[in-house]
Amino acid sequence: MIKAPEHVLAVKAYVPGKPVKELERELGIRNPVKLASNENPLGPSAMALEAIAGASRDIHRYPDGSGYYLKNALSRRLGIDPGCIILGNGSNELIDIAVRTFMVPGDEAVMATPSFVVYSMAVTLGGGKAVEIPLGGPAFGHDLPAMRNAVGPKTRMFFIANPNNPTGTINRREEYGRLFAGLPEDVLVVLDEAYVEYVSHPDYPDSMRYLLEGKNVLILRTFSKIYGLAGLRVGYGISKPGILAQMERVRAPFNTNSIGQAAAIRALEDEAHVARSRAVNEEGKVLLYRELSALGVDFVKTEANFIYMRVSDAQALFNALLKAGVIIRPMGGKAVRVTIGLPMDNRRFLDALKAVLKADDSIKK
Ligand SMILES: Cc1ncc(COP(=O)(O)O)c(C=O)c1O
Repeated sequence: MIKAPEHVLAVKAYVPGKPVKELERELGIRNPVKLASNENPLGPSAMALEAIAGASRDIHRYPDGSGYYLKNALSRRLGIDPGCIILGNGSNELIDIAVRTFMVPGDEAVMATPSFVVYSMAVTLGGGKAVEIPLGGPAFGHDLPAMRNAVGPKTRMFFIANPNNPTGTINRREEYGRLFAGLPEDVLVVLDEAYVEYVSHPDYPDSMRYLLEGKNVLILRTFSKIYGLAGLRVGYGISKPGILAQMERVRAPFNTNSIGQAAAIRALEDEAHVARSRAVNEEGKVLLYRELSALGVDFVKTEANFIYMRVSDAQALFNALLKAGVIIRPMGGKAVRVTIGLPMDNRRFLDALKAVLKADDSIKK
């Protein structure tokens, strides 16, 4: 048998939320509601769909490997040079590229736990060590001072998901200020902002400021969340040209496809769709906060499009809701994450949850 090296075998394959069609097929559940992968429940913008139809006529051609038009659209929107942007097959791929560019086996990367699992997977697969620091403080956010203390001579990267997945918590401006003042210059700070468009908190940091100050940051964003294009796999990174030029050596040619590039450009223009998506999320948040509080469920307030709930048995709750056709995401043994959906999705989730709790109240924490 051909065997992969130990550091590869140490990683568990990523388990995505089940696609709706698979549930229909395997469990015979009709019309399930998927609140498991933090997707936009409104779907993509109509303008993006039009662009997809247009771009599909040219798919016998290779895509623009440099992503010229998308980078220019992003550059205009963000007010930065196109040379400060790199495109990825989802921001997921950019995490991988960054690790492969800047780490060698034996190096370390500091990150929080629980946080986005892809950080530790990418680092471990690269032969590096993921140094994981528990979330902390009253806001249950990244414990940046403890993470800073975990930085040593082998640390090459420092991951911050802001907002964090799976908790929806944020780290504030003043926390960044203290962190950057004390961090060694040779550590690349990845500021993963996959959910930035949902944030409404006044103390949320402006990450671009640190880039302009010359800090070694890589800001990651995506078209998978509020822009509703998760299936097309388009993400982008923002950093210093010198950092990105090195990552470009690792990036595969044609990593973002032509349909994804065309859709992303139009999705960026459709500000009304983004505003609507944000409003639907805010409305869902208000409903879920109210009803979860009334049910006595222990949840964490979110700045993103999902809610983290602490329960006594995550798998049991997942299974019970699944039977009612509601797919959520179990996170380890004692917590679940639920994506905020359309009003009718949220209602269905709440009704199913009420029925589960009525049958067995001990599933609450
Ligand atoms: C914090 C965070 N970063 C990155 C991603 C990756 O998104 P994508 O690869 O679709 O851009 C996700 C997706 O769930 C996420 O939650």
